[in-house]
Parts: sequence; structure tokens; C-alpha cells
Amino acid sequence: MVVIPTETVYGLACDALNKDAVKRVFDIKGRPADNPLIVHISDISQLESLAVEIPDEAGKAAERFWPGPLTLVLRKQQCVPPETTGGLDSVAIRIPRHPVALAVLRESGLALAAPSANRFTELSPTSVEDLNPAILEAADLVLDGGPCEVGVESTVLDMNQSPPRILRPGGVTAQDLKDCGIEALSAEDSSQRRSPGQYERHYAPKTRIVLVEKLREQDAGLCLSPPASGQQIQMPADVTQYQSMLYHALHQLDHANLEVIYIERPPVTAEWAAVHDRLRKASSPPS
Ligand code: TXA
Ligand code: MG
Repeated sequence: MVVIPTETVYGLACDALNKDAVKRVFDIKGRPADNPLIVHISDISQLESLAVEIPDEAGKAAERFWPGPLTLVLRKQQCVPPETTGGLDSVAIRIPRHPVALAVLRESGLALAAPSANRFTELSPTSVEDLNPAILEAADLVLDGGPCEVGVESTVLDMNQSPPRILRPGGVTAQDLKDCGIEALSAEDSSQRRSPGQYERHYAPKTRIVLVEKLREQDAGLCLSPPASGQQIQMPADVTQYQSMLYHALHQLDHANLEVIYIERPPVTAEWAAVHDRLRKASSPPS
């Protein structure tokens, strides 16, 4: 079990086809068994050994966005154990683009199941310094690949429905998909039922989060305008830069013994969908 850097967040990786290894990952994360893992591969030629009935559109998306932050949900091959897919007959697959992740995949010759290397519902780590000590302790090896470039998890796109549906907004936007001819439904468009592994509270620091229009002078948190004190972190106005800093900034504030972390609401436009999704889940009260 190896902590690996990816371009999105750090992952806790193991052999995706080994159910005992997969069970250990669920244990260490404290993750419910019905929350499916993402299987990582290094080459598109591995796809057919893991998935069946691959729609043309999936091939098109893979060609365009792999390696990169897009995960495709497809029908699974028999060889993928139910432990990996949370009992579903589908499997989520992506090729990450971090050179260290790709090297581990190639050298091991395995398909690697790698959930984010955080405990269930906690913030994902985007640098080794932000890893939970329990994860550090439990992992057999930790590979430090520096800070993650994208900073939020991959976009999960369900290819088992037509049109495909974004189950989790992430590093690839709906517009990016549209630009390559894929008109995907967004998570909100259609999800009466919650998709597997998408919980209301998620990606959350220990400190309570409150979303506001504007920080007051005395508030600690994330702002978009120039900070009024040392407890305010100014976030970039550019969405990709904002995403790449978000989790690390929240980890930092989470260590500052605050009562509340206030966060200025970013612009409500489609390209900010992944940020709004994470902020909404992080600020949702514990159940
Ligand atoms: O960016 C990422 O995707 C990171 C890095 C490490 O690659 N991994 C990641 O994995 O975010 P994880 O386990 O934290 O999130 C996986 C999510 C599940 O919670 C679920 O929402 C979705 O992917 N998923 C996985 N398999 C699925 C399936 N068969 N059907 C629907 N959704 C699935
Ligand atoms: Mg996760």
C-alpha cells in the first residue's frame, strides 16, 4: 500500500484486483464498503481488460483527456472484484498524469485502486505534509512528488447513461467536455438519487466552515480580496490556481485552532463547479 502523488490529490494505492489489499485500504480510510474506488492505469490499451461495452464517446473522452483528471465509469470486467467497486457492476477508471504515478503504474505492471489518501470525510491531501499521521503510519511507502498541480479530485463521468452524466465535478469542466463534443449532464441536472460515494459532508476540515460574501476584518479564512490580517489567506481569482491551493490552505487554517473558518464565496459560474461542490460539502454539518 503506497501513497502516490497524482496531479489531482495524493492517493492511497494498492493492486486494484487484489481484494485483500483493497479491504485494507477501506479499513485505513474508515471508508464505507459501498463507496467504490477509482482504478488507475497507465495506458489506454489496459481499458479493455477492466471494462466491457465501452461506448465510442468514452474512447473519445479518453483520447482527449488522458492522462489527466477525468474518470470514466464503465461496465466492469469480471476480473474487477466487487470489493473495489463497492458491489457495483461498473468500474471507474482513469490515467493520471503525474510522472511519479505513471512510473509506479508502469513499473508495477498493475492497475491501481487509489482513493484520495485521507480518512473518510476529511480533507484530501495535496502535499505530503498534509497527510493524516494515521495514513502515514499505515502506508508501506510514501512517495513525495511535491504539491499537486490540479488540487481537486478528478471529474467522474458516468458513461453508462446517455447522455453521460458528471457524478462529481473536478479537474475537467463540463465546458472542456463540450469542447470535445460531449454534452454531459451536470450532477445537479438529474440526480434525484445520490450517486455512490457522494455524501453530503465530505472534504471537510475539523474546524467548522462558514461561507460568506465578504470576510470581516476579525474573520479568519479564505478571501478573494486583499487580506485584512495574518489569519486571512488571499486566494487567486483564477479558478485553476484557486483549486490548486484550496485544500492546502484549508489544512493550514485547520491547524490554527480557530472556531470557524470563513470562506468568501467564489463567483457562481460553471467553471467554478468543482470548487462550489467541495465548499458546499465541507461546510455541510456533521450528521
Ligand atoms: O482525483 C482523483 O480521482 C483521486 C486521485 C487519487 O486519483 N482519487 C479519488 O478517489 O478522488 P476517491 O476514492 O476519493 O473518490 C472516488 C469516487 C467515489 O467516491 C465515487 O463518488 C466515484 O469516485 N466512483 C468510483 N467508482 C464509481 C462507480 N463505479 N460508479 C459511480 N461512481 C464511482
Ligand atoms: Mg476522496
